Amino acid sequence: MVSSLKPRSSLDADSVRDAYRRWARMYDKVFGGVSAFGRRRAVEAVNALPGTRVLEVGVGTGLALPSYKPEKHITGIDLSEDMLALARERVKREGLRNVDELMVMDAENTSFADNSFDIAVGMFVASVVPHPDLLLAELKRVVKPGGHILFVNHFLARGGVRLKVEKIMARASRALGWHPDFAIESLLPPEDMARATITPVPPAGLFTLVTLPPEETK
Ligand SMILES: C[S@@+](CC[C@H](N)C(=O)[O-])C[C@H]1O[C@@H](n2cnc3c(N)ncnc32)[C@H](O)[C@@H]1O
Repeated sequence: MVSSLKPRSSLDADSVRDAYRRWARMYDKVFGGVSAFGRRRAVEAVNALPGTRVLEVGVGTGLALPSYKPEKHITGIDLSEDMLALARERVKREGLRNVDELMVMDAENTSFADNSFDIAVGMFVASVVPHPDLLLAELKRVVKPGGHILFVNHFLARGGVRLKVEKIMARASRALGWHPDFAIESLLPPEDMARATITPVPPAGLFTLVTLPPEETK
C-alpha cells in the first residue's frame, strides 16, 4: 500500500533547473528510449482528440514534438532553458511548422488566459514539479470547457519488489530530477481518480497514461 501521498524529498524550482541543466545534453540518450512508448501513447491519444490548440507542459528537449499531427498546434513550456534550447534546435532541424511557441514558464503558474487550450498534456513531468496539485489546477484553468488533460508518468508501485526499489531510488530524487516515490494520489484527488481513464503502458506497465475527460461543469 502507498504509505504517504507526498514524495519524501522535495524538488523546488531551482533544483529542477539545476537537475535539468546537468541532464539536458544526456537526456535523450539516457531517458529517451525507455520512455518512448509512453510518450508515443500520449501523443497518439492527443492526436485522436478533438481540438487543435495543445499545451505541452514540461516539454523538455521536445522529444514528442515530431509526433503530433500537423493539425495540432503546440505550445510548449518548461522551467529549464537548457532543455528548451534543445527543443528549439529540434523544431528547426525537423522543420516542425505546427509548434507555435516554446517558452520558459512554470507549469504551476502560467501566464495563459483561462480556457486558452483544447488539450493539455504533461509527459514525465508530474513527478518532477514541486506541487502537482497546483499543476493540475493550472491545467484545469487553461483548458477550455469540453477539453482534455493527459499525463503519462511513472507512479509509485502499490507493492512488491518494485515498491521497495522505488523507495530506495527516491533517496536520489534531487540527482535524478524526478521522484521515484510519486504516488498517483499526489496528482489526482479522489474525484479525478474516479473519472480518469488510467492505462498502464510498456515497458512492463512501468508508466501510466492518465486521461481526464472534460469536467461536467467548469
Ligand atoms: C523528465 S523531463 C520530461 C521531458 C519531456 N516531457 C519528455 O517527455 O521527455 C521533465 C521536464 O519537466 C520540466 N519541469 C519540471 N518542473 C516544471 C514546471 N514547474 N514547469 C515547467 N516545466 C517543468 C523539467 O525542466 C524537464 O524538462
